Amino acid sequence: MFSNRRYLGVCTALAVLASACTKASQPCPQATGLIGDGVARFAPAAVSCSALPASMALVEPRFVEGSIPAEWRTRPTFSTDGDRAHATVSIEAGTSLYGTGETAGPLLRNGAITETWAEQPFRNPPPTGLSPLEYDDDFLNLYQAHPWVLAVRADGSSFGVLADTTYRTRIDLTSGIELSADVAFPVIVIEGATPQEVLTRLSELTGTIELPPLWSLGYQQARWSYIPDAKVREVADEFRARSIPCDVLWIDIDYMDGFRIFTFDEERFPDPSGLNDYLHATGFKSVWILDPGVKVEPGYFVYDEGLEGDHFIRRPEGELFVEGSWPGDSVWPDYTNPETRAWWASYIPDLLGNGIDGLWIDLNEPSIVFPPGVPFPGDLLHVGGGGLPPDTHARYHNAYGLLMSEATLDGMKMARPERRPFLLSRSSFLGGHRYAAMWTGDNSARWDHLHWSVTMTLNMGLSGQPFAGPDIGGFFGSPSPSLYAHWIGVGGFFPFSRTHTIQLSEPQEPWSYGPEVEAIARMAIERRYRMLPYLYTLFREASLSGLPVWRPVFFADPADASLREEDHAFLIGADVLVEPVLTEADPHEFRIPSGIWRELTMVGEDPSSTPELPVMKLRGGAILPLGRVVQSTTEALLDPLTLMVSLDAEGRATGVLYEDDGEGYGYQTGDYLLTTYSAVQSGDRVEVGVASEEGERERPARMVTVIVVTDSGSFQASGADGSTIGVSLGGT
Ligand code: GLC
Repeated sequence: MFSNRRYLGVCTALAVLASACTKASQPCPQATGLIGDGVARFAPAAVSCSALPASMALVEPRFVEGSIPAEWRTRPTFSTDGDRAHATVSIEAGTSLYGTGETAGPLLRNGAITETWAEQPFRNPPPTGLSPLEYDDDFLNLYQAHPWVLAVRADGSSFGVLADTTYRTRIDLTSGIELSADVAFPVIVIEGATPQEVLTRLSELTGTIELPPLWSLGYQQARWSYIPDAKVREVADEFRARSIPCDVLWIDIDYMDGFRIFTFDEERFPDPSGLNDYLHATGFKSVWILDPGVKVEPGYFVYDEGLEGDHFIRRPEGELFVEGSWPGDSVWPDYTNPETRAWWASYIPDLLGNGIDGLWIDLNEPSIVFPPGVPFPGDLLHVGGGGLPPDTHARYHNAYGLLMSEATLDGMKMARPERRPFLLSRSSFLGGHRYAAMWTGDNSARWDHLHWSVTMTLNMGLSGQPFAGPDIGGFFGSPSPSLYAHWIGVGGFFPFSRTHTIQLSEPQEPWSYGPEVEAIARMAIERRYRMLPYLYTLFREASLSGLPVWRPVFFADPADASLREEDHAFLIGADVLVEPVLTEADPHEFRIPSGIWRELTMVGEDPSSTPELPVMKLRGGAILPLGRVVQSTTEALLDPLTLMVSLDAEGRATGVLYEDDGEGYGYQTGDYLLTTYSAVQSGDRVEVGVASEEGERERPARMVTVIVVTDSGSFQASGADGSTIGVSLGGT
């Protein structure tokens, strides 16, 4: 068999830890059979278990629990074609396809081709006026790799298909689902009554996100780079002086001494701890960048110690792989080696010891900076270990970002076991959400990129990664005031909400476009802060069930074919529908789910004078918990708590609020409060109160303002949380 030969050939050539390649008598972690409720794995029959790559997407190996029942609906057909292994899944008419990870373009992926190969985009020559590194919707692959397709049949039932391999895989959706790679691979099929059920089952295999710290859900401001440290203080002061809420400032590569990782530039950032103290005192957190490339320079401690421990990737002939990164000639850690991950993690406590709150890992596709566009050769060697066999870069390339994320997160947890870590990674593989949030890389200040920032965030959620968002305003270029206003308008809602821009571009702070745009940006960000209790509740749900925070509108009614292509409007959770303006000229006709959706305005907003802000609608039957406007999450969000109520046709509504310390792990031992509020109408009176609660955290003594949104106006009343609050719809 062609692919066995290739794979076993590599094992023999490397001949190190060869047992990983020849465990014939062990139960096969890649065999055909049922591997969970509604989850079946199919291995190509002609390929022996030892020739199939072990899964890196799954949290742990899944062994067969039973045989696949005869009535199982979705089965791949395996075939070979020269040197390519294929798995084909046919789809019924009316089936819509989604997922495939980080792909620009529409939400609906029918007809698209994607390749899993984590890569910084590069075109030479680029289209006129663009940087060679700018991406478009005809790119087959971007920074992350997700060999995963979510399918929704005409009747709303759903299945997912996972090509369980890290090797470069082509996902051709031009007619059905056609997966192909240079090695044979198993396919996991997940069945579910709804797409939500399939995603929850996916998360049982690949894990869920850890509940992030509350501050990481606040608004964040970055640029390449705020230099020197005085500039960072100035930006922080400006946010506070202008009363624009913000939780996090980001520190890009220029803080380092000559781009040597784990160092600080003595002139520009002489006192990182002092800078962080200053930020903390004004309610900010800081996230600092970290790249994998290590400067080749005898005497530089990271290089010396890495060499001593043999932690760097080598060429097949044995010499170090040296190419250009920011600091010039560099070498790259081989994160497949558990000892290298531990070595990398050992540098993190000192770094964070400077009061750094979160980390941002970049260029970990991995990418070469100089010259750009030069790929990492597939024949580089990775030593593996701890269950990962030694193999070539062709096998581990797509997992580099995931493994770097794991190592970095380990270091963060080691440094501060009592704090929830926040880590952002540019590259990753399916399952990498277990370790890091993601952003959509170096996008552009263009209207189509504004649209794709919505579709990409949605498809990341449908690929297991709920914590995602773009560079608001675009990384390359400078947005017009109108484009920035529209982008921040919707941007306030992204699960990960950060403005960022390239070196030397025009300023991209919310106040950079004049007072009108500043006012819109302030309102958009204030909306986010008011929504934080709801967003946090959704992040908790994501951490338990794998359901995304942002959801396509078809989630409200998966059997309604008219919703399948809608990718301007989206849902936040199940209850809030957002209709953003993502086009400069032609207005978009929104397809929205049937049922009751009532327009929602936050107190003090006049939607007719701010068309840049998306229209928000609340589902009939929902209660939306809102906080108050604060300048950062260091202030108490929930006093008063506002409950926006939209009754269903029977005059009822329910909503959930999750709260905890916002930090630390006390919630895991009961220090949280999960409240279900309910509302019932009787005549022209609506009574709102606590229907049930869970957790050991005491209900804070606080006021609740209830606002019942009806078709004929809003009615409100206040009372103590925990009591029954009566709202008269007669307005008296
Ligand atoms: C990469 C990152 C970008 C960052 C820049 C400098 O292009 O994607 O976000 O600002 O490097 O570190």
